[in-house]
Amino acid sequence: MLKSEPVSSVESGPEQRVRPVGIVGLGSYLPEQVLTNQDLEKMVETSDEWIRTRTGIRERRILPPDLATSDMALEAGRRALADAGVTPDQVDCIIVATVTPDTPFPSAACRVQDRLGCKRAAAFDINAACPGFLYAVTVGSQMVASGLYETVLVIGAETLSRVTDYQDRNTCVLFGDGAGAAVLRPVGKGRGLLSSVLGSDGSGADLLYQAAGGSRLPASAETLAKRQHYLYMNGSEVFKFAVRIMEEASLEALARANLTAEDVDFFVPHQANIRIIDSARRRLGVDMDRVVVTLDLLGNTSSSSIPLALDQAVRAGRIKDGDVVVAVAFGAGLTWAACVLRWGR
Ligand code: UT7
Repeated sequence: MLKSEPVSSVESGPEQRVRPVGIVGLGSYLPEQVLTNQDLEKMVETSDEWIRTRTGIRERRILPPDLATSDMALEAGRRALADAGVTPDQVDCIIVATVTPDTPFPSAACRVQDRLGCKRAAAFDINAACPGFLYAVTVGSQMVASGLYETVLVIGAETLSRVTDYQDRNTCVLFGDGAGAAVLRPVGKGRGLLSSVLGSDGSGADLLYQAAGGSRLPASAETLAKRQHYLYMNGSEVFKFAVRIMEEASLEALARANLTAEDVDFFVPHQANIRIIDSARRRLGVDMDRVVVTLDLLGNTSSSSIPLALDQAVRAGRIKDGDVVVAVAFGAGLTWAACVLRWGR
């Protein structure tokens, strides 16, 4: 009698019933200008001590006024293509995750498509706030898994400094600018995206939002005077949601990949607050030395935070071939996402 082959757990996640797809190249772009906690002490009633102990942030990057989101996305995308050994004409689709595109329309992705010279590529933006990059990875991976495309460039890029009110100490200490990119292509069996969980709860839409400048409240002298073009956040409510959802989404994604928290080699959480990260990793039972943290030097860069953290950890030689990586994020919407990847081609 033929003995049946044991089914490897990593091959049985729903995302791998079709051909496996993974990240084959990464790239980042960070503006040079640094805004420190000491700088913020001169702008609002705050202190370096409060910011460090309540958030874990020491400094963040700020984009100069003559540049916009697509400029950073372009550079991160170029670096990811070079890292993957892919030429612009091989790119089938570009997805930019952002809540701060250069203009409400057209998409930042179209500007990147033109300037990168990706002549054959479709291009669009995803607005899923901080989990936007993981939404883009999930959508792009499905495009490749289905055979529709071979190569998808996904980018998280944000200029949050343009929608941050530097008179509001509740929010201005948190956010920074930056971009990170990844190239998605078919990979070997058992590698790549093993599972993905996406979620939303629009009943929390007003906990974190930009009130003016859209169809509900178009820009006017009055909205400007009321500072409604800046983001508003109910920090403590978002905090409670974040702590719960980071654990739940990670566990659900691991279960879908037939893995447990013990299998996790690296935990790459959205970089919003060190207390949220610490609580999530404790609940999951993941040691701090397996957690990727960039928050201290970059602050919260929304959809850029996960690709920036991944790029940093891979370049530092921490994340290696075969490692199980769990990336998880939460944000405005409310939205959340968790992806489990087995690193490598
Ligand atoms: O990407 C996703 C989006 N956002 C998040 O993940 C944010 C989630 N929330 C948080 O990270 C935290 O809620 C914050 C860091 C925003 C705030 O920390 P907290 O421990 O929840 O503080 P709090 O809002 O409860 O405020 C505590 C006190 C308040 O003073 P009173 O009312 O107790 O006198 C605030 O006014 O701290 C005060 N405060 C500050 N003090 C000094 C708020 N911001 C500052 C500040 N400097 N920058």
